[in-house]
Amino acid sequence: MFGVDFAQHMVDYAKQTCKDEGVADKCEFVLGDVLTYDFGGKTFDYSCALGVFDYIEEAQALVNRMASLSNNSFMASWPENGLRMALRRYRYTCPLFHYTEQQIKQLHYNAGIKPENLEIIRIGGGWATVAKK
Ligand SMILES: C[S@@+](CC[C@H](N)C(=O)[O-])C[C@H]1O[C@@H](n2cnc3c(N)ncnc32)[C@H](O)[C@@H]1O
Repeated sequence: MFGVDFAQHMVDYAKQTCKDEGVADKCEFVLGDVLTYDFGGKTFDYSCALGVFDYIEEAQALVNRMASLSNNSFMASWPENGLRMALRRYRYTCPLFHYTEQQIKQLHYNAGIKPENLEIIRIGGGWATVAKK
């Protein structure tokens, strides 16, 4: 497993969790912006971004990145607009982004994912997606 986050404390937390669970030898976490991180040509069976698109202004760039890094499939969560988002906007100081189902479909279509290869699952506060290559 390979993880990228641009917050050092999240990288530390992930490393500690893997250590506690006895899987540290199978996991690597690095500090970096997933949109610009140099993966050095490495690709992965699967990739996932859970609770991440909430903070991504360039959603298309990240979907494209996940599509090109993943050999089998990639998974993401997508917040919708609504009361929960309004409360988060009130509490958080950083910009937050939300999506519609149509936008999610279009983002994947633009990244080369055929509609029949995109599973959209309704979850609390938005959607989860599984895109098959
Ligand atoms: C709500 S947390 C979710 C963390 C984890 N996926 C989980 O489910 O517990 C969102 C994370 O995305 C990271 N993040 C947001 N934009 C990023 C970017 N462009 N590159 C790397 N990490 C990013 C933040 O630093 C934060 O740790």
